[in-house]
Amino acid sequence: MFTANDFIPSQYSQTIESGQFQWSAPSNIALVKYWGKKANQIPANPSVSFTLNNCKTITKLAFEKKNISTPLDVTNKFSFDLFFEGKPKEDFKPKIQKFFERIEIYLPFLKEYHFTIDTENTFPHSSGIASSASGMAALAMNLMSLEKALNPAMSDEYFYQKASLLARLGSGSACRSVKGEVVAWGNQANIKGSSDEYGIEFPYSIHENFKNYQDTILLVDKGEKQVSSTVGHDLMHNHPFAERRFAQAHENLDKLIAIFEKGNLDEFIKIVESEALTLHAMMMTSMPYYILMKPNTLQIINTIWKFRNETQIPVCFTLDAGANVHVLYPNKNKESVLQFIKDELVDFCQNGQYLCDEIGNGAMQL
Ligand code: PMV
Repeated sequence: MFTANDFIPSQYSQTIESGQFQWSAPSNIALVKYWGKKANQIPANPSVSFTLNNCKTITKLAFEKKNISTPLDVTNKFSFDLFFEGKPKEDFKPKIQKFFERIEIYLPFLKEYHFTIDTENTFPHSSGIASSASGMAALAMNLMSLEKALNPAMSDEYFYQKASLLARLGSGSACRSVKGEVVAWGNQANIKGSSDEYGIEFPYSIHENFKNYQDTILLVDKGEKQVSSTVGHDLMHNHPFAERRFAQAHENLDKLIAIFEKGNLDEFIKIVESEALTLHAMMMTSMPYYILMKPNTLQIINTIWKFRNETQIPVCFTLDAGANVHVLYPNKNKESVLQFIKDELVDFCQNGQYLCDEIGNGAMQL
C-alpha cells in the first residue's frame, strides 16, 4: 500500500521531447456519498461508487518540451492551451491551473512542457451531469502516461494508484473514476488497502446480482448546479449533524461489504436510497440551506417506490447534489424497468431526456 509520499518522484531515467496520449475516463455514481472534506481534498468520510460505462470524458494531451531559450518568466509558469469539443475554452483554465499547482509536487516536470489539452464528453453538454470526475480522471491518466514514459520501470499498481491520487486533487470523486467496477475511497478499517489519498478497486467479492448493474440517468434539471460541490462540502464545516453523518457513512460502508458479497438487493436498496436522501438532508439542514430536488425529482422517487411495491422488481434511485435521478437496477430486469421508465418516468424529465448507462471498468487508453 502506498502513502502520498511514495508518489513524490526523485529522478527520471528517460527524457522525452514531445508526444501525445489519449485516455477516456468515465463518470461514477456514489452509493455511499462523499460530502464534506478536509484540507487537500481529504474526504471527511469514506465513500463507494459504481464506475459508469457510457458517460465519459475523452481527453488528448499533447506535450512539447519548452525551448532552452524560452524566457525564464515563461519557464517558471505552467503553460497549456485548452480545447473543449475542438474550441478554445478559457473558462476551464483556472481549474486546470489550480490542478497543476496542487499536483506539481508529484509531477515535478510539469513546468518543463507546454501542453495542449483537447477534451470532450460523450454525454450532452448541458445535461446537469458533472464532468469534473471524468474530466479530472482523464487528464490524470494522460499525465501518468507521460510520467511512465519518463520512468518506464513504474509498476501498474503505482501507475493507477498515483493516477487516482492526482485525480482526487482535481476533484475528489474523480479518484473513483480510474480503475475497477466498484471503487472505495477513504480510510475504512474493514476495507483492506483503503486510503484517504486515492480510490481502490473494492477488494472483496461482488455477487452476480450486481453484474452489469444498470444506471439510467433521468435528466430532471439540466441547468447550472445551484450549489457547486466546493460550496457544498464547505457547508459540512460546523454543520449540526456532521459528525453523526460521517459516522453513518462508515456504518453504511461496512454493511455494504456483506451486501455486495451476498447479493442482498433489499438491503442494498435501503442503504443506497437512505444515502441519497441523507445527502440532500445535509443540504437542507446546513446554513445557508438548499433544496436541490425539484418537484419532478419527488414525483420520480414516489413513482419508483410504487412500481417497486407493485412488481417486487428491485429498482431504486440515487441522487447527486442536484435534481437528476439515477435509477439503479439489475441487468436481468433491464427490459421491464426501461419500459417502466418510458411509460411512467420520461414525462418528469426535461425534454423527455434520459441517459442509459451501466457499470463499467474505468479509464482506458485510446
Ligand atoms: O468530487 P466533488 O467534489 O464534485 O464531490 C462530489 C460529491 C457527490 O457527487 C455529491 C457525492 C459523491 O460521493 O460523488
